[in-house]
Amino acid sequence: MGDTDRGTVLITGGHRGLGAALASRFAADGFRVIAAGRRETSAIAGVEALPLDLGDEASIRAAALKLEGRPIDILVHNAAIRGATEGLDAVTTEDFIETMRVNALAPLLLTRALIPQIRAGRRKVIAMISSRAGSNSEGHVDNPDGDYAYRCSKAALNMATTKLAADLKPEGIAVLAFHPGWVRTDMGGDEADLTVEESAEGLKRLIETADLTETARFRTHDGRPVGW
Ligand SMILES: NC(=O)c1ccc[n+]([C@@H]2O[C@H](COP(=O)([O-])OP(=O)(O)OC[C@H]3O[C@@H](n4cnc5c(N)ncnc54)[C@H](OP(=O)(O)O)[C@@H]3O)[C@@H](O)[C@H]2O)c1
Repeated sequence: MGDTDRGTVLITGGHRGLGAALASRFAADGFRVIAAGRRETSAIAGVEALPLDLGDEASIRAAALKLEGRPIDILVHNAAIRGATEGLDAVTTEDFIETMRVNALAPLLLTRALIPQIRAGRRKVIAMISSRAGSNSEGHVDNPDGDYAYRCSKAALNMATTKLAADLKPEGIAVLAFHPGWVRTDMGGDEADLTVEESAEGLKRLIETADLTETARFRTHDGRPVGW
């Protein structure tokens, strides 16, 4: 990576919502950006699309194979699904498992598959776009909702973050979690506080400046600490 080379960022779910805004911000700032998701091409100028279905382990392996030999400086696990939102009575095995698969298991499997590429990168940062809704200490200050699967999946992702942070620290790889705020996307809805640009701007700043001193931290898009 030369002085003018900002490095490569891979963003899951990089074709819409917060992921697309992050892809735009990193690309506008001179990073090489790979948007990984269920589309063949990116609508964002200069952004490369990588086919990836996080619900399919074979697709995760295939995506990593396509990136063999290419350093990844920053890996952003952004993609997620909401799951059933209508409370305890709406919990079904299929929906709960699918939400856990996409939101918690897939980031682990993709991280494992891309470890060689991350080792080869210079920045060595893995960012989990989690949610305060998955925080045991602060999650319930949010509006009450019926999101059992989603909250459990983000709590699991939070543990994956601290576990990976501990395991990868000796290799100089930082692993962090972020709460993006309540953001106006398909998932966040029209009433949300923040535009995708506002959230992405803050997240990008924190992610691109992250290093080992920040590993295992959980922060909001504007840098405030979130309790686990
Ligand atoms: N919006 C909020 O207020 C808010 C608050 C807290 C945390 N978050 C977190 O922020 C992140 C981004 O959320 P968002 O609001 O931008 O959500 P969104 O608008 O619903 O977008 C979700 C993204 O995830 C992708 N995705 C879902 N399932 C996938 C799969 N199986 N394989 C590959 N990609 C998949 C979607 O791709 P497709 O187009 O293929 O479906 C889409 O790009 C998520 O982790 C979310 O939990 C959001």
